[in-house]
Amino acid sequence: MSKIAPSILAADFGRLGEQVEELSAVEGVDRIHVDVMDGMFVPNITFGPPIVEAIRRHTRLPLDVHLMIERPGLYLRQFAEAGASALTVHVEACPHLHRDVGAVHELGLAAGVALNPGTPASALESILECVDLVLVMSVNPGFGGQAFIPGTLRKVAQIREALSQRQSAAELSVDGGIGTSTGPLVRRAGADVFVAGSSLFKHPRGLAAAVAELRRSLEQQ
Ligand code: DX5
Ligand code: ZN
Repeated sequence: MSKIAPSILAADFGRLGEQVEELSAVEGVDRIHVDVMDGMFVPNITFGPPIVEAIRRHTRLPLDVHLMIERPGLYLRQFAEAGASALTVHVEACPHLHRDVGAVHELGLAAGVALNPGTPASALESILECVDLVLVMSVNPGFGGQAFIPGTLRKVAQIREALSQRQSAAELSVDGGIGTSTGPLVRRAGADVFVAGSSLFKHPRGLAAAVAELRRSLEQQ
């Protein structure tokens, strides 16, 4: 079953609590994707643990926190205490990847690893059996509303194959430019969690219609 993870990055931050509540009431939304950017790992800055804590107060849904930050190991505890359910670090930001993934598990949270579009699937070779989630970026991280990079589809298929070989139950998620035309391609390549920001929040008929439309597109053969 495909899972839809709306990215709060595309929400109206002036009424964040309200938007989180609206999202939580939408049928078929089972988690919220939360994008943290530090202006170093990516050329944009969003927010840190206090905003995650504020989001936590408005929803019971799991919060999948995507850390687009350098030295994420320094901040894992703060994000856990703020109410994150899963923490995803970038392989490109972690010279000691197993240490950071282990630290997330020690905090009692699910651990994910993310790959930029230019990073090959082989970068996951030694970490795959240790993670709960793989996040394949289908845009260069930093901004919402960018165009999906088709070359990342092959990588999704390679990682699906590697997970199957290891009989891993880890989730395979894709993030960036996901909507009703790209979602089905990514699903066919083997993804099971679909992060979507602009296509949901900027939908002319609102969030519930957007989620339903994306779900229908993912269920097509
Ligand atoms: C991009 C973020 C994404 C972003 C996706 O750096 O990691 O989660 O919100 O936004 P869309 O769906 O608009 O590409
Ligand atoms: Zn993200």
